[in-house]
Amino acid sequence: MNDYELFKTLIYKKSGIDLSAYKEKQMKRRIEALASRRGFNKLADYYRGLDREHRLYDEFLNYITINVSEFFRNPSQWDVLRKEVIPFLLGSKKSIKVWSCACSTGEEPYSLVMAFSEFLRLDEIRVLATDIDEGAIAKARIGVYRENSLKNLPPGLKAKFFSRSGSDYRIADAVKERVDFRRLNLLEDNFPAQCDLIVCRNVLIYFTEDAKQQLYRKFGSALSEDGVLFVGSTEQIILPQKYNFTPMRVFFYKKGKN
Ligand SMILES: C[S@@+](CC[C@H](N)C(=O)[O-])C[C@H]1O[C@@H](n2cnc3c(N)ncnc32)[C@H](O)[C@@H]1O
Repeated sequence: MNDYELFKTLIYKKSGIDLSAYKEKQMKRRIEALASRRGFNKLADYYRGLDREHRLYDEFLNYITINVSEFFRNPSQWDVLRKEVIPFLLGSKKSIKVWSCACSTGEEPYSLVMAFSEFLRLDEIRVLATDIDEGAIAKARIGVYRENSLKNLPPGLKAKFFSRSGSDYRIADAVKERVDFRRLNLLEDNFPAQCDLIVCRNVLIYFTEDAKQQLYRKFGSALSEDGVLFVGSTEQIILPQKYNFTPMRVFFYKKGKN
C-alpha cells in the first residue's frame, strides 16, 4: 500500500470521510501541500500528527472540505430559479420540500429562504441544509457574514433580511428559523425522501466520476415526481437521461422523462 492509500484508509477509519471518492490528483496535492506547510514530509507522519493534535485535525478537515460560498452565487442561475423554477414547483404544490445538500456556512440555504419568500410567507418555507463539515454548520447557525459575500443579493434583500454587526452582516432570525441544519455525508449517509428541490452546487466537482454517478442515482430517488435538481456552474450532468432526469434549463434537471 503506498503512502496516500494508507493515509486514505486511516482517515476513513478516523473520520468516515472516504477520500477515494474525491478526485485523487487534486486532493493528494492539496493534502501534501498542507502537510508540508506544517512540517511533515511524509503522509504517515502527518497522520500521526493529526491523530495527536486536535488543532491539526480540525485544520485538515476544514481544508479538505473547501467551504467557499456566497449568497446567490452565480446570480443569473438564481434568476432562473426565482423566475421559472420556483413558479413551476409551486404550480402543482403548496408546500415544497427543499434540500441544500452541501450547504457550507449557510449562504445557500439562506438564499433559498429569501428566494422562496417572494412567493410564500416565511412560516410556509422550510429548508433542510446539510454538510459533512460540522465547523461550517456551526458558522451557518451563527449566520454572520462579510459584506463581500452579500454582493449578489437581489435589490432590497440586504435591508430586509440583514442587520449590521460591526463591519459584518447578520442574517435575520426570521430567515434562520426556516432552516434545519444537520451533518450529512453525501457519500455515506441516507438521503431524505420526497424532496421537491435539491440544490447540490460546487461539491460534485471534487468527486470522481463513479462517486458522481452514484450521487445522481441517489438524488433521483430522493426527488419527488417532477422534483428539480439544481447543480453548480461547472457541474452539468452528462447524459442526464441515464439517471431519469430531463434538462429543464442549464444547471436545472427535472426528475422524469419530460
Ligand atoms: C465549495 S462549498 C459549496 C457551498 C455551496 N453549495 C455553494 O455552492 O456556494 C463545498 C461544500 O461541500 C462540502 N462537502 C464536501 N464533501 C462532502 C460530502 N462528502 N458530503 C457532504 N458535503 C460535502 C464541504 O464541506 C463544503 O462545505
